[in-house]
This record gives sequence, structure tokens and C-alpha cells, in this order.
Amino acid sequence: MEIVHDVVILGSGIAGLRAAIEAARVGNNDLDIAIVSRVQLMRSHSVCAEGGTAAVLHPEEGDSLELHAWDTVRGSDFLADQDVVKLFVGKCPEEIVQLDHWGIPWSRRPDGRISQRAFGGHSFDRATFAEDKTGFFEMHTLYDTLQKYDRVTRYDECYVTSILIDNGAFAGLTVWDLTSGEFFFIKGKALVIATGGACRMFGFTTYSLTATGDGLAMAYRSGIPLKDMEFVQFHPTGLIPNGILITEGARGEGGYLRNNKDERFMEKYAPSKMETAPRDIVSRSEMTEIMEGRGFTREDGLDYVHIDLRHLGADKINERLPLIREVAIKFAFIDPIEQPIPVRPAAHYFMGGIHTDIDGATPVSGIWAAGEAACISLHGANRLGSNSTAECLVWGKISGEKAALYAKAQKSLPPTPQQIVDDEEKRIFEHIGHGNGSEDLFALRLELQRTMDHNVAVFRNGTDMETALSKIRELRDRLKHVKVTDNSRIYNTNLMSLVETINLIDLAEVIVVGGKARTESRGAHSRKDYTERDDVNWLKHTLVYYNPDGEPHLDYIPANITMWKPVERKY
Ligand code: FUM
Repeated sequence: MEIVHDVVILGSGIAGLRAAIEAARVGNNDLDIAIVSRVQLMRSHSVCAEGGTAAVLHPEEGDSLELHAWDTVRGSDFLADQDVVKLFVGKCPEEIVQLDHWGIPWSRRPDGRISQRAFGGHSFDRATFAEDKTGFFEMHTLYDTLQKYDRVTRYDECYVTSILIDNGAFAGLTVWDLTSGEFFFIKGKALVIATGGACRMFGFTTYSLTATGDGLAMAYRSGIPLKDMEFVQFHPTGLIPNGILITEGARGEGGYLRNNKDERFMEKYAPSKMETAPRDIVSRSEMTEIMEGRGFTREDGLDYVHIDLRHLGADKINERLPLIREVAIKFAFIDPIEQPIPVRPAAHYFMGGIHTDIDGATPVSGIWAAGEAACISLHGANRLGSNSTAECLVWGKISGEKAALYAKAQKSLPPTPQQIVDDEEKRIFEHIGHGNGSEDLFALRLELQRTMDHNVAVFRNGTDMETALSKIRELRDRLKHVKVTDNSRIYNTNLMSLVETINLIDLAEVIVVGGKARTESRGAHSRKDYTERDDVNWLKHTLVYYNPDGEPHLDYIPANITMWKPVERKY
């Protein structure tokens, strides 16, 4: 079966929905738009975004676009492209106002103006929030707004298995409809990839189970390079024992981090910013406390520190942080009004992603990427909290507009590569998962997660990354022996897990290959064997290209430094 649309949006989180709205608006009923998502739309991982969306809203109180740009560049450890940062900070306030006009219930000050809270690495309170459920309300607002447009078709619970490129341009997607079991081809003129990151390759993560980096892996295997993938963000406050996000808003509202001596240890590491230092610094500080014996220990190795909110009082916790109170009570049996919450760094975000230009365009005609799946080079080596949902909105809009304009200009659709579609269907249903059964898929995925947790985490070194690389390649070989016992095509989550694991393994290799090569410490890439930042040799972006015949191919492009030269990063 073949289905035709003008613009195809792959992924239905904040970036995907914002792109769909903009494409529909620009298309003005001339364009037919599809949103393809592996989940029911409102179950996208974006609903888990908690703390806020950055924007300069109150310049009269001293904030400025320059300050937001400087915070972002310094936070990135100077790897962000500064033209990208400048565009970003200028567009963020427009998106906040746009959402306001579309009906989002932003939290407000007593005088009715939009409220903002402190977030790590920002020198002004500029995280715009809706309680601590910001992503949830943003998603609902975008979803409601989308209902205004007629020519948008949703393909919920449809798992895409490959992105097809023909003659250097987007041709279409092969799609497995989980609800019916059908396998079909969506042909289109333009594609926006907005499928998020791949932190599910780590065991201790804030991510939903569904965020397995499928879009990144498919783009990579189709020939589009991935950029700066070695930079993986660890959020300082993943709830023990399962990693659920305890928002940075908890520290922004005044929460303290304490060690087993009841000390606010951030005094030693970032005396001026304390708990609201950037995430790479706070995560390293926590791990240093734990490694030097000042953490709390657990038998399973998930040693931790405390985030203490008790001094904020019940009213503030209930008004500003109701979700994390609920989460702490339900998942850790701790009421933060009365007890500190146990936390440790959790894999949270990919600074890297699909290589794009400032408009979100990939090197392939007709393909854009937006949100966490993209690496526009906004975050460099370390993202500031609340710049992510803002990025999803800003580049959701930009990529949706560009994709729509491109689609309008295309007079004809590419031919259907039927043989390739047929081969892909055979790969999914007849080739993979037909091993002798000597290996267990879920045990292999667990090994991958343990490998990444132990060897490619907050602190890294060459030996550990080498160990990780050998293990990743061994796991890839062992996956061939997996046998999928479910023969159905309908909701065959066993088979889907295998495809996800293949994707995670390819992406883990990219992270480690890039990380091993980068012999410096910068932002979230912190090496014990190369402890200094090296601007002479490494003020550049890593590009990794897929090589079907062997090891991934590495290349580099310079960072775009237009406003601020790198200086020592101190908080
Ligand atoms: O802590 C948080 O609420 C996460 C926000 C972010 O990653 O930007």
C-alpha cells in the first residue's frame, strides 16, 4: 500500500506538533500534512517536560536577549554556534506569547503577568512555566490548536522502520502500523524528523520507555551525519530508584542539595550559583561527593545525594511543584514536605543529533530535523535547562515553515522505490529476529544499558570507552541470535523492541566513537584522562557518518564563534 502526503512530520512531541501547525498554516489548505508517531499523540515524551521554557519576557526588570545568549554560549562550554544562539533567543519570547494566545495556562504573578522561575546557568529568572507540568500543558495547547486545521492526518501507533532517499532527496517512509499489522509506504515531498533523543540506551534515565532514538538511527543509516553525539546530558536529579525527573524547578524554587554530612556541597563547586549552576557542573559535583564517600549508599549501587525542599513549606511545594510531590510519594514513598528526596544524575538529553543548518535543514533535500533529534548546534557541549522546550517550539515552527514552502515548490513526487520497500518489509518480518534463540533480547538490552551507565556516564576515560565500544560491537553480533517468538504483526512489541535495540546499539557506537576521539573535557564530556578543555584542537563539531561496511567515519566542522571568544567557565 502507498499513501501520499505533501509534508510528513515524524514524531508528535512539542517540536513535531509545532512543525505540523506551522506547515498547515503556511500550506493554507494547499498542502496535505501527515503526523506519524509510534505512540498515541499525547503520549509523546514531551508531556514529561516539567520545569519550564526559557525566554526573555521581562527586559524592564533587567533581563535581555544578550544575557540569554551569553548564558547559553557559556553554558555550552563555547561549542554552541553563536549565530544559532542569537536567532534562538530572539524567537523564544514570540513562542511564549503565541502559546499564551493559544490558551496555555502559564503560571502567573499576582498582578497577572506571566511568572518565571530560576533555572541552572541562567543569570535571570527566565524559565516560563505551568506549575511543574510545562510540557504537558504545551502539548495540550498545541494539540488543541492543531484541531483548527483540516488537512492534517494522524498516523498514531505507527512505527517507522526506514527513511528512504532517492537521488539525494526525501522519497518517503516505510511504516509498520502496530494497530493493524499493515506495512506500507508514505510518500512525501518534505519530511521533518522530530523523534527526540535516545537516552534509553542508559539504564538510569529520565526518559520514557518509548524514547529509543529511532529517528536518529534511521537518519544515520540513510546517510545523514549525526553531530556532537558524544555530548550526553546527565540531569542532576533523577529520582532513586527509577530515574524519574525531579525537575530543576525544584532547585530553581530554592531546593538544597545535601550530602550525607548534611552539607550544601555546591558551596565548594559553584559558590555563586550553588544549586542553580549548569547541569554538567552539578552532576559532576554530586558524583564527586558520592565517589569520595559523602553520598548515601544502596546495595544496588545507585548511591545518591538528597534534594531538600522542606524549608520551602507545604504551600509553595503544592502550588509550584505538585507533580514532583506526587511522583516522590508514589514512586519513592517520600513526601518532600517532610523528607528530603534521594536523587542522582540520570541520562536526560542528547546535545547532539541529526546534523542540520541554522534552519533545521539536513544535507538531504526535503529533510529537516527539529527538537532533540536535531543538532542545530544551539547547546554545544552542555544545554541549559529550559532551553530545550524552547528549542522545540522555535525550530518546530521554523522547520515546519521551511518544509511547507519546499513542498509547495515541488511540482512532482519522487517515484516509489517499490523494491526497496519490499526488501524493508522482508528485513523487518523475515530476517531480523530469526536467530537460533541462544540470546535473550531483554538481557542484551540490559547489558547495553549497564555498559553505558558504567563506562560512558558523567565522568569518562579512554579505557572505559574502549571497553564500552567492544561490548557494543559484541552485542550487535549477539543480537543476530535473538529469536522473536511472537509471530503476529499486530502490537508485536517483542519485534519492535528488537528494532529499537538495533537502533540503540548503532547510536551507542556513534557516541563512544566520537567520545573516544575527543581528547579533551568540555561540557558534559568530562574525561579523567584529558581533564582540560582544548580550544586549540577541539573547538569544533564532530560529524559521524554511517559506514555499512565497517567502522563509522568521523569528520569535523568548526564551531561558529561570532560574538564571544571562549573564556574560563566559572560559576
Ligand atoms: O528539570 C527539568 O524540568 C528539565 C528541564 C529541561 O530539561 O529543560
